[in-house]
Amino acid sequence: MTAPRFYVSTPIYYVNDKAHIGHVYTTTVADVLARFHRLLGDRTFFLTGTDEHAAKVVDSARERGRTTQEWADENAAAFQQTFERLRMTNDDFIRTSQDRHKVRVTEYVKALMAGGEVYAGEYEGWYDAGQEEYVPENKAKELDYKSPINGKPLVRKREKNYFFKLSAYRQALLDWMEANPRAVLPEARRNEVLGRLREGLNDVPISRTGQESWGIAVPGDTDQTIYVWIDALMNYMTAIDTEDRRRFWPCDVHLIGKDILWFHAVIWPALLMALSRCPGYDWVTPPRSVYAHSFWISEGMKMSKTLGNFVDLEKLDSYVADFGLDALRYYLATQGPLGATDADFAHQRFAEVYNSALANTLGNCLSRVCNMSVRYAEGQLQRPDQIDAGSPVVEAVAKLRDACAKQAPLCIQAYQEVDLNHAADTALALVREVDAAIEAVQPFRMAKQPDQLDQVRAFLSGCAETLRIATLLLWPIMPHRMEHAWERLGCTRYAPELINRGTGELASWVQWAAEAAPFTIQGGDPLFPRYQA
Ligand code: MSP
Repeated sequence: MTAPRFYVSTPIYYVNDKAHIGHVYTTTVADVLARFHRLLGDRTFFLTGTDEHAAKVVDSARERGRTTQEWADENAAAFQQTFERLRMTNDDFIRTSQDRHKVRVTEYVKALMAGGEVYAGEYEGWYDAGQEEYVPENKAKELDYKSPINGKPLVRKREKNYFFKLSAYRQALLDWMEANPRAVLPEARRNEVLGRLREGLNDVPISRTGQESWGIAVPGDTDQTIYVWIDALMNYMTAIDTEDRRRFWPCDVHLIGKDILWFHAVIWPALLMALSRCPGYDWVTPPRSVYAHSFWISEGMKMSKTLGNFVDLEKLDSYVADFGLDALRYYLATQGPLGATDADFAHQRFAEVYNSALANTLGNCLSRVCNMSVRYAEGQLQRPDQIDAGSPVVEAVAKLRDACAKQAPLCIQAYQEVDLNHAADTALALVREVDAAIEAVQPFRMAKQPDQLDQVRAFLSGCAETLRIATLLLWPIMPHRMEHAWERLGCTRYAPELINRGTGELASWVQWAAEAAPFTIQGGDPLFPRYQA
């Protein structure tokens, strides 16, 4: 039997600008999911990259007196470096200006044209240059004929275009969503898409004129370039359309922001359905799910450069410097807008979450258990399943074992459902159980009586075992600090397997007493020093 596989993608980011919290957030969530699936043992493919053929890339390059390619190269490199610095584990970084992408997109569009899925026509409508998108009349009116992205007036545009027969896929899309309750997530977004699908669908232009030579030419018509959004969506396929990677198809989760839902939940699956009818593409199926998160606001208000509350890279770097990279990952993953409501990136809240969950709960508990183990057992603990049945601590340890047996599957399920806050919380619940057990058993009191030291050690082994399991479960969110915790807990064997992009065996690793060897515990500095403003 082959191991299960998992494919997660982020949007590809426009190269006219620097990375900000929106980009870092989606890529972090994708990184958490990719790490979780590697930890589970799935063969995982995590894709991110840059979207380079937008007209605004041409414009912003011109404003700076640069060639478009130079400007795209520079910004794509900056995105790549940023993600490396933030230690993202993407398996590839696709750029739409790469030949591997352009060649494949041309093939797909050719196939769609030959298959009668694309036809030549004329289009007129309101165009939002900020979002590179035509806006329907009713929406344009709602927006007061201004771009919600940059506030500039929408422009009336008319052009000869090639159209994709999107209208022919309305029923197929409804059937797909009906058959796959997780096709569009979360629930609110699914309902939004269903509502709009029920209203009906128009064919969509898939080409543009007059974008100089930047972009991918429509096969057989050099006056037209493939519309940047069509070219961009296809990255999810061009990146894996090779002999050795095709096995990753279909994508398990396209992670996106809510503003680009329509392209991903409607146009993209319909394009794939159309392509699958063309010769040679019968392997092409729609994604397993499209997950559209909401937005970050900042200090209670919409982010804006003029308000000075824009969470750019410099701001994110300052949080990494003050709290650590894993603390930033924890805040993004657990306090972020995965659901249907926006989330606030606020300094005070960040410090509260950090101090309460990481410094006072996780870090403090690890220190207590490690320090007591060093003090009362020279760091040598037995296996937690070797406790004498008559021992007074046997009940407390059994309670910890039961908590692990209950929380670990809940945590795994939460990750599978992209509910990262819940995943973190179920793992932290184990840490709280350890704290409660320490309060109840009072090992530091027992240790005053030399004849009870064996009991203290037995109890501490149960605590260390519970922390081993909790830290494994938290690894996808905070890999670097959890690897450090494993050193303290003497479970160093996980890290190399996971760090080398290998795969783990989470289901067996989280079993009670899964480790054959006893623990060798070390003292050390706090895992998460308390933050004082
Ligand atoms: N290039 C397109 C995506 C093409 S995917 C085939 C694009 N790029 S983008 O760089 O403008 O935006 C990337 C992502 O950032 C989008 O998913 C968008 O939702 C997200 N965000 C932008 N601002 C955001 C917040 N304030 N909060 C969270 N995410 C936000 O769109």
